[in-house]
Amino acid sequence: MRELSRILAARIHQDGPITFADFMADALYHPSYGYYVGSGEGREPVGWEGDYFTSGDLHPLWGESLAKQLHQMWDLLGRPARFDVVEPGAGRGLLARDVWRWALRHAPDWATALHYTLADRAPTGTPLHTARETRLATELARLGVPEAATSWAVGLHDALPTDGLTGCIVSNELADALPVHIVEKHGDDLREIYVGINRTAGRFVEQPGEPSSPEVAAYLDDYRVPWRGYPDGWRAEVCLEARAWMRQIAAGVRRGFVLTIDYGDTARRLYTPHRRRGTLAAYSQHQFGDRPLAHPGSQDLTAHVNFSALILTGRERGLRLAGLTTQANFLTGLGFREGIAALGRYQTPGTVHAILTGDSQIDYLRRVSQRNALSVLLNPAGLGGFKVLIQQRGVPGAGRQLLGLRMPHA
Ligand SMILES: C[S@@+](CC[C@H](N)C(=O)[O-])C[C@H]1O[C@@H](n2cnc3c(N)ncnc32)[C@H](O)[C@@H]1O
Repeated sequence: MRELSRILAARIHQDGPITFADFMADALYHPSYGYYVGSGEGREPVGWEGDYFTSGDLHPLWGESLAKQLHQMWDLLGRPARFDVVEPGAGRGLLARDVWRWALRHAPDWATALHYTLADRAPTGTPLHTARETRLATELARLGVPEAATSWAVGLHDALPTDGLTGCIVSNELADALPVHIVEKHGDDLREIYVGINRTAGRFVEQPGEPSSPEVAAYLDDYRVPWRGYPDGWRAEVCLEARAWMRQIAAGVRRGFVLTIDYGDTARRLYTPHRRRGTLAAYSQHQFGDRPLAHPGSQDLTAHVNFSALILTGRERGLRLAGLTTQANFLTGLGFREGIAALGRYQTPGTVHAILTGDSQIDYLRRVSQRNALSVLLNPAGLGGFKVLIQQRGVPGAGRQLLGLRMPHA
């Protein structure tokens, strides 16, 4: 991590201040020292032992609910002999594991059509990746998943079939990890925040300057954000990479769906005057931090997703909006509440339960606490407030049929 600070400092000394997007790209994805590459130490950043948990950590019921949705997509596509699921930003592969488990138990015919490709930006061959791949391979072998039906790729380019996929591209909390530019309003102008160095203090500091490109300067106007009426000093993140990512995704879908889960909102609700300092956040050891320039490579950096950008960019490239909803409504439409209720059978008094089943009291407590943790996924102030975006190509009318979009939309 210190090494990454030295690398970034040398770059700034040589070339001058860099955009925050460049700083964030190295902090998260530097090939040797980036946070998502293992911080140079093979360290697992995500999960209970890492810096923050994601929905899949809470309970397999989350991934199994997504499996139900993917299965219905296969149905809507006319049950093709091969159904590809590509998951960019797959991280540890929890979703792949839970999708396979559900498919083998509940839809063996679908399982024979299913091919699952995990695609992460973090390179393969690193200690972090090897540990993830080995763990997932063991779990999938235990489930009886045919070895050839799951593979890992680096980035989307390697993951997508050259003639486009029939199936679904699914991601959870990827778009919030894409590098962002930061702009700040001053009078009728937008200034961009660059990262420079205070040599006396020996630390990275913000330096305002002109927008680094016409795309950055025009971004808020592209989504009709009335920023000129906002107070001076108002800030926003501009994620050009999310648009490039969506263009790549759209080009990769021949017939099927794109399912994107993340926190964020439409531009109108995201770029409001009361969010004066934007949404950029740093996370370390399950704590929120407000020093994004500190310790590059050792903390997560993340910003809310502008879903309007994903929807409009997708539309420009032929992806139609099937629906945008909240995770709480999406999961409810997929029978998540009934799934939780079914886990309720473990809610018997500890001692009686232990005597009747032979389970230890720790097993019992673990189940009860897992069940309670699931409510976080339905809480609008928690992970239930995440957005779920579904886009489609070549499946007209799917928006009215998809189970995850049954509840009223966001
Ligand atoms: C916040 S983590 C989420 C991991 C996982 N989806 C989960 O729910 O636990 C974001 C992941 O996205 C990956 N990532 C970021 N940009 C990517 C890209 N352009 N293509 C593929 N993966 C990417 C990161 O390396 C990281 O593993």
